[in-house]
Order: sequence, then C-alpha cells, then structure tokens
Amino acid sequence: MLKVGLVGIGFMGRTHLENYIKLEQEGYPVKLVAICDVDPQKFEGKFVGGNIGDTSKQYDFSKYNLYTSYDEMLEKEKLDFVDIALPTYLHAEATIKALNKGLHVFCEKPMARTSEECAKMIEAAKANNKKLMIGQCLRFWPEYEVLKEYVDSGKFGKVTGAYFFRGGGTPIWSHENWLLINEKSGGALLDQHIHDVDTINWLFGKPEKVSTSAVNVIPGSGYDIVSTNYIYPDGKVINAQDDWTLNGDFGFEMLFRVNFEKGSLIYKDGKLTIYPNDGKAFVPEVSTESAYYKEIKYFIDCLINDKPVEIVPPESTMETIKIAEAEVESADKKGVPVEVK
Ligand SMILES: NC(=O)c1ccc[n+]([C@@H]2O[C@H](COP(=O)([O-])OP(=O)(O)OC[C@H]3O[C@@H](n4cnc5c(N)ncnc54)[C@H](O)[C@@H]3O)[C@@H](O)[C@H]2O)c1
Repeated sequence: MLKVGLVGIGFMGRTHLENYIKLEQEGYPVKLVAICDVDPQKFEGKFVGGNIGDTSKQYDFSKYNLYTSYDEMLEKEKLDFVDIALPTYLHAEATIKALNKGLHVFCEKPMARTSEECAKMIEAAKANNKKLMIGQCLRFWPEYEVLKEYVDSGKFGKVTGAYFFRGGGTPIWSHENWLLINEKSGGALLDQHIHDVDTINWLFGKPEKVSTSAVNVIPGSGYDIVSTNYIYPDGKVINAQDDWTLNGDFGFEMLFRVNFEKGSLIYKDGKLTIYPNDGKAFVPEVSTESAYYKEIKYFIDCLINDKPVEIVPPESTMETIKIAEAEVESADKKGVPVEVK
C-alpha cells in the first residue's frame, strides 16, 4: 500500500484529493494519509473557486493527519510519495525536500518557475534514485491522446500546420493572489499557455526557435495574452495562443486544429472531430476517464511496477519550461525569433 501526503489543498489540490478518494474506493493500493496546507481554513471547507471544479463540495478531513507545516508533515509521517499542488514558485523547494527524504514526488505543472530549478529537481531525483513526475495533464487528456496517436502513427501523413488555444477569465481565486504575481507564477504564459507549449513539445519535439507577441494587461502579472509561432526545420506552421483576460460570462475554452497531409483533427466545445480529406468526418470514441485521474493512476503504476515515467519524463517537462523561457525572451524583444536552448 502506497502512503501519500498531499500538499496544497487549493483549487488543484482538491482535484487530486477527489482522485485519491476514487482510487481508494476502487481498491487501488494507495492511501492518502496526510494533507498539508498553510491555510487551516481549507480544512474547515472554506474554498475559493477556480475556472473548473466546484467549491460547494465538502470533504471529510477527519480521515487524514492534517498539517499546516510541510516540514512537520515530512518529519512525522512515513510516506511513499508526496503530491505537490502548491503555487508554482514553491514546486522546486518542496520537491527537492521530499526527494532528499527518500520519497517519490508527483508535482503539478508547470514543473517550476525557472529551468534552473527544474534541473535541480532532476538532479535530486537522480541522486536519491526516486521517481519524479510532473502533472502535465494534457498528455493524459483523451482527445489529446488521440491527436498524439495520429501524429506518431503517421496515418494521416505528416503534420502541415496546427493551432492551439486556451483562455478564459482572470484567475482571482489563488492563495494570496500568487497567480497574478509574475515572480510567483510566470503569468498566463507559464501557468496556462504552458499546457499548449508542453503539448507542442510532446507532439513535435523542441522547436528550433520561437517568435512570441505578448502583452501585460494586469499590473505585475507578467504576460496575460500570448501568441507564439514555433519554428521547425521542416517548415510546418505551428501557433499557440492564450488569453486569461476573457472576463464576463466567457468561462473557459481550450481547442486545437491540427492539419495533416491527408486530413485534420479539430477539438472544440469539448468535442473532437476527425476530418479525413477523402471521406466523411467522424467523432471518435474516447475514454471518459479524466486526465487528472489517469495521470495519478499512471504514476502509481510506475511506482508499483518500478517503471520509468515514460509518458512525462522530467527532462521533457524541463524542456517545456525552456521553450516558455525562450517565448518570454522573444516577447520582451517584440517578437524577434529566439533559439530554444
Ligand atoms: N493541471 C491543471 O490543469 C492545473 C489547473 C490549475 C492549477 N494547476 C497548478 O496547480 C498548482 C496550484 O494551483 P492552484 O490553482 O491550486 O492554487 P491555489 O492558490 O488555489 O492553491 C494553492 C494551495 O497551496 C497552499 N499553500 C501555499 N503556500 C503553502 C505552503 N508554504 N505550505 C503549504 N501549503 C501552502 C494554499 O493555502 C492553497 O490552498 C499550480 O502549480 C498550478 O499551476 C494545474
């Protein structure tokens, strides 16, 4: 039985909590034993909403050992792994502490605030011979899994162009508003757009260069609206955009349109449609399991069977951060193409 400590019970931590409850109910060999959050009000069920999820849900926290200090939790509990759903600027420090205590780590995306921190996380995982996985959840999102299968199998030939978008209202729910402080979150570019950066890296590998136009709208929050062209040697046209200033009743949207030599895949309004150039469009059957559930289940399987975290290697998620850093540099230079290191 794997014993888990969950750190951070904010918007994303609660999604993780629900998945541990589900996995335990299904008889999976995992047990959430401890939860840590610096804000004790969370243990009284006082939550603030995010762009997905439900704040009215309540949980039975009496089943868990509760901590407001991460160090104390690491000191007192006998855990197999920690699940880190803390603000981004705390990912590296919390991950390295747990690895150095001999624990495996599942940490939310983005991997860390900087690629230097990512490198230190990987070093610590190697030095302690422990597994580290980052929750880049689109690698487990059913419609994006179908897209990956089309790209890898070549059944529609090569990709000629692709467009990705994600956006919604400004996140105003986070702990001490960390999401809107660039030094802590990296703005929409690192927090939200990173999902599409990681998808592009996962599907097509590291681009040679990026050219980014981006703008800051909310004082101090970094780049809030982003558009990046990803430059590949074969010339395919790849663009991703993000905007977290779509307020009012907009809600949240994520979509993609990927064009291949022999057809295209379009995901919008939560539905994937496949358009073969020489036949009828169709809607494929996709898994109904949530990516947040599947990613944790996958990590547990890697631990139980001592398998490498092949779908989301930390080296790959660090590369994603390096691409995002090149985007920031390009945006700072008003769109001048910047090499990805
Ligand atoms: N995969 C996804 O789709 C997705 C979606 C949203 C957020 N996230 C990621 O999840 C992480 C958390 O984001 P969030 O939206 O849940 O933020 P949040 O502010 O809602 O939650 C963070 C929680 O951490 C707690 N916390 C802060 N400092 C702490 C400390 N030192 N020790 C213990 N607890 C502490 C806060 O009290 C809060 O409950 C971020 O990295 C974010 O990018 C991922």
